[in-house]
Amino acid sequence: MRIMVIGGGGREHAIIKKLRQSPKVTEIFALPGNGGIARDAVCVPIGAEDLPSAVDFAVRNAIDLAVVGPDAPLVLGAADALEAAGIPCFGPDKRAAIIEGSKVFSKNLMRKYGIPTAAYAVFSDIAAALAYLDDAPLPLVIKADGLALGKGVVIARTREEASAAVHAIMADRVFGDSGANVVIEEFLEGPEVSVLAFTDGRTLVPMVSSMDHKRARDGDEGPNTGGMGTIAPNPHYTPELAEVCMKRIFLPTVAAMNAEGRGFKGCLYFGLMLTDSGPRVIEYNCRFGDPEAQVVLPLLESDLVDIMLATRNGTLAEAEIKFASGAACCVIMASLGYPQRFEKGFEISLPAALPERCAIYAAGVKRDEGGRLLTDGGRVLGLTACADTPAEAVDRAYEALKRVRFENAFYRKDIGQKALAALKKEA
Ligand code: AMP
Ligand code: GLY
Repeated sequence: MRIMVIGGGGREHAIIKKLRQSPKVTEIFALPGNGGIARDAVCVPIGAEDLPSAVDFAVRNAIDLAVVGPDAPLVLGAADALEAAGIPCFGPDKRAAIIEGSKVFSKNLMRKYGIPTAAYAVFSDIAAALAYLDDAPLPLVIKADGLALGKGVVIARTREEASAAVHAIMADRVFGDSGANVVIEEFLEGPEVSVLAFTDGRTLVPMVSSMDHKRARDGDEGPNTGGMGTIAPNPHYTPELAEVCMKRIFLPTVAAMNAEGRGFKGCLYFGLMLTDSGPRVIEYNCRFGDPEAQVVLPLLESDLVDIMLATRNGTLAEAEIKFASGAACCVIMASLGYPQRFEKGFEISLPAALPERCAIYAAGVKRDEGGRLLTDGGRVLGLTACADTPAEAVDRAYEALKRVRFENAFYRKDIGQKALAALKKEA
């Protein structure tokens, strides 16, 4: 089979590496991929959001399956465009991708169908939003409606911060048109869990759970990022909680989307907060998480091509989906200064060999004419290790990281520590 993967980050590299393990695959193209992905796929210089070029490429190259990695092309209608041209596609259509594309949509969906989430109000008028802040209980969470590269959320501890956030989103439009509407919601507390699930709109199969580390610095300090590291499974997500989530959140979400005429097929991502009063949805994403994919997919033992085809074809109930019993940890090596300003273009030196069950996933990486790898983004590489135990996975991910070098490299030293502490408390 000839496969095409849209996107060029660490998540797409993890998808590609797993797809390559399938005996069915003969060739993989990445649009646009990156300098590190080029080791595992043929990179084609077509931007992830250039849908007409992607469709044209798929048709001319007789692609058997297209996989869309990032949210933006899905929200723009990548799956619709590819399917209309006769290319089977893994990923939700535009009508379903709105579950991530609009927070107003997803909050209203949850309210309408009784899916537990934070209490909220929606505003399209800045004066009304500011007036609401006057006596709403603090802290408050302010969210731009649309996509904002994972940065459209502000946790405001004072009324001044809340009002500044509303101004920035609605008046200054720091996230562009994503800020035409704003969601103001109740602040929730508890451990966070990411659960990715395959669903064909009928059957839903959750993957192994994981924990992201969104803040830039150790101890969950510093600004929010796209994610600085992950560990799977998430020790807070017990089998009992998994059962509750399936019954109260996952299956009701699939049913709600069907009832709205927006059946979801693809990878549905549940960002959950385990509050004292039960699990609640913080956010939905319409795709694999990044860097969640970099710990979840390495633990997948079944054939990802078969699963993706079954998801697309509506036969997921018959697919084999098995995960390894161990753990995985991914540490992101970023450019110093990320998520704000950073320099790029530094040469990356990679080891000739990695420890067993380790992988390097390339994100902000490019290859120059001489074949050297250079840093080319905020998040540069993800170092993943799989092991029998979480502690071992953490140790080995950092061991692998020590063998990689580039100037101005920056990473968190405590990825997985919260999970290990939770396991210790349990024992
Ligand atoms: P999101 O972009 O929706 O994933 O939000 C980014 C992060 O903000 C989440 O991972 C949470 O840590 C935090 N967050 C979002 N909504 C809430 C909320 N209602 N209460 C507390 N924290 C939140
Ligand atoms: N790591 C969070 C996300 O992919 O949205």
